[in-house]
Parts: sequence; structure tokens; C-alpha cells
Amino acid sequence: MVIKMDYILNVKDLKKYFPVRRSFVEILKKAPERYVRAVDGISFKIKRGETLSLIGESGCGKTTAGRTILRLIEPTGGKIIFNGKDITKIPEKKLRPIRRKMQIIFQDPYASLSPKMKIGEAIAHPLLIHGLADKEEAKERALKMLKRVGLTPEEEFYERYPHHLSGGQRQRVVIARAMILKPEFIVADEAVSMIDASMRASILELLNDFKKEYNLSMLFITHDIDIGKLISDRIAVMYLGKIVEIGKVKDILNNPQHPYTKALMEAVPSIARRKRKKKVKIKGEIPNAIDIPPGCRFHPRCPFAMDICRKKEPEMVEIEPEHFAACHLLK
Ligand SMILES: Nc1ncnc2c1ncn2[C@@H]1O[C@H](COP(=O)(O)OP(=O)(O)OP(=O)(O)O)[C@@H](O)[C@H]1O
Ligand SMILES: [Mg+2]
Repeated sequence: MVIKMDYILNVKDLKKYFPVRRSFVEILKKAPERYVRAVDGISFKIKRGETLSLIGESGCGKTTAGRTILRLIEPTGGKIIFNGKDITKIPEKKLRPIRRKMQIIFQDPYASLSPKMKIGEAIAHPLLIHGLADKEEAKERALKMLKRVGLTPEEEFYERYPHHLSGGQRQRVVIARAMILKPEFIVADEAVSMIDASMRASILELLNDFKKEYNLSMLFITHDIDIGKLISDRIAVMYLGKIVEIGKVKDILNNPQHPYTKALMEAVPSIARRKRKKKVKIKGEIPNAIDIPPGCRFHPRCPFAMDICRKKEPEMVEIEPEHFAACHLLK
């Protein structure tokens, strides 16, 4: 019997290039157009009910990937299959009903909420926009949702404005606003990074509860593997626009293959302490995404770089079931 995997999202060779603005002199000299290759061909799938963390240093393209998948910015190439439907190019009007099923939670709960809107209204708002409830019903559902995310007494919180709330409480409002539409898929972009460390665990728990209740699938974007490991089923490690390693959390933590993954884990004391293997230290900083090094884009920083790494881009190799890494050392 063939068991068909139920994937909510299938991303194939997704690319997002931003043109670099040329100076007046460059235009006069007819200098060639240059691009920031923020996302440079990434492929992965997310199963229904699964959370995949996208992890990597600042500037590696995580946010761009998340926003492109939701079509908040237009892809340069590749395919986005959501619920079995190719949404890469469908027009905005047809995208609208699908949008309801895919929501985003941003990093900054301060910037995500309008200062002039009562938080109860902010939570009810998506229901009204999508024509899913009248005013009275929307209010009722917003009150229930306030209670659900732990902002009680809910009638009192409904009337408050964002400036009355702490960062953690605001992020609960942002989560409530995303969840009121009963989405099937969430992109959480550094959803707990700006929140006080003491509140993080409870916000992650809230997300996890919703995940179970709604069989929600999630792309959890974070630069912090320590947070990613708490909430994910699988982890994808991104470097300069590419996924260099992907696998189940336990396999990535116990058996990392790519030197970059190993180095990222060295930087996290709680993970590094568990291992006594040879340390992998990387040098320098992530290069800019305009001049991407040839061959393996990680080679200038890799302590194991060989000749082939400077010439040939490595392909993904299967290490064990569902665990892949792209490195010439693995051949
Ligand atoms: N609208 C844009 N126009 C031009 N370049 C952009 C734009 N948005 C992002 N970039 C560039 O694309 C690259 C990836 O940026 P992105 O914000 O996706 O990275 P990130 O991994 O989310 O970083 P961080 O951890 O800091 O949030 C960076 O080089 C960034 O400068
Ligand atoms: Mg980002």
C-alpha cells in the first residue's frame, strides 16, 4: 500500500532576487544590473500539523523566504504549492480566500499593532475584512480568543490599547489576531525574539497548543537554534540564500553534518555542552548576498574547504531518512 504524505506546503527551487539600485554613474556607464540573491533556490516540504524551523544568521534570507512563500512579495523563480495548489502566480483576487488559511506573525509586536485600535477590535478585524462574521459575532469571537490566549478578564482587555500592554501581552494579541481566522499554516518570523526571555516559554507553549488544537502547520523562523529546537519537528539550516541542511530536530542536534550547522550549534552553550566532539569554528562574517562566492557559498568561512568547494556547488545528500545536507565532505 502506498501511503500518501499529506503536505500543506511544497516549496520548489524558490528564488527571490532584489535588484540593486544603480547609481547615476553606473547607469551612464551601462553597468550591468546586480541583484541581492536573498533566496537563491530553496526546496522543502511541510507536512500537515508539522513545524519546520528555518534557522540561520542575520541576512541569510529567512524573512524573505517566509514572505515570498505567503506571496507578500513576488517570487523571482520556483514554485509554491499550498494545499496541493500552485499559488506561485495566481492573481491577488484568487489569492484572497487562500490567504485566510495562511497567516504571519511578525517579530515586532510593537510595530504589528495599530496604536489607535483597541486590541479587541484588532483581533476581530480580520473576521470583518474577510466577511466571516458581522460586528456582534466578531466581537464575541474576539472575546473568546482573548480568553484563549490568556488575556483576562477579556472584557477589560478588549477595550485596551496596545500601549497599555507589555511586549509579551502584545505578542499574544498578534497571535490571537492570526488565529481567529483558523489558519492551516503560519509563518512565525522571530515571534519570540523581542520578548523578554522569561515570557518566551509561555508564548511558545501557546503556539504549540494552537498547533495541536488546529492541526496547524508552521514555518518557524529564528536565528536561535536553541528556540527552534523547542518548537519544531524538523529544522532547516539556511546559509546565504540556500538550505544547507535539513532534518528532524534530534538528527540535526545529535548528528549534524554540515560544518555550518556544527558551528551554529557550537555557539549555543546548552547544545555545545552536550557534545564533546571536535569544535568547528568559522571565521569572518556572512558575505553580502550580491557577490555570492562561487562553488560552495560557505567555502570562504569553512575550516574544511577543499579545492572542489571553490568550484562546484554541492548537492543535497541523504544522510539518513529525512536528513539531507549539501557539503562535498559527504560524498
Ligand atoms: N526589500 C529588499 N530590497 C533589497 N534587499 C533586501 C530586501 N529585503 C531583504 N533584502 C536583503 O536580502 C537579504 C536577506 O534578508 P532577510 O531579511 O530575508 O534576512 P534574515 O535572514 O531574515 O535576517 P534577520 O535575521 O536579520 O532578520 C539581506 O541581504 C537583505 O539586505
Ligand atoms: Mg528576518
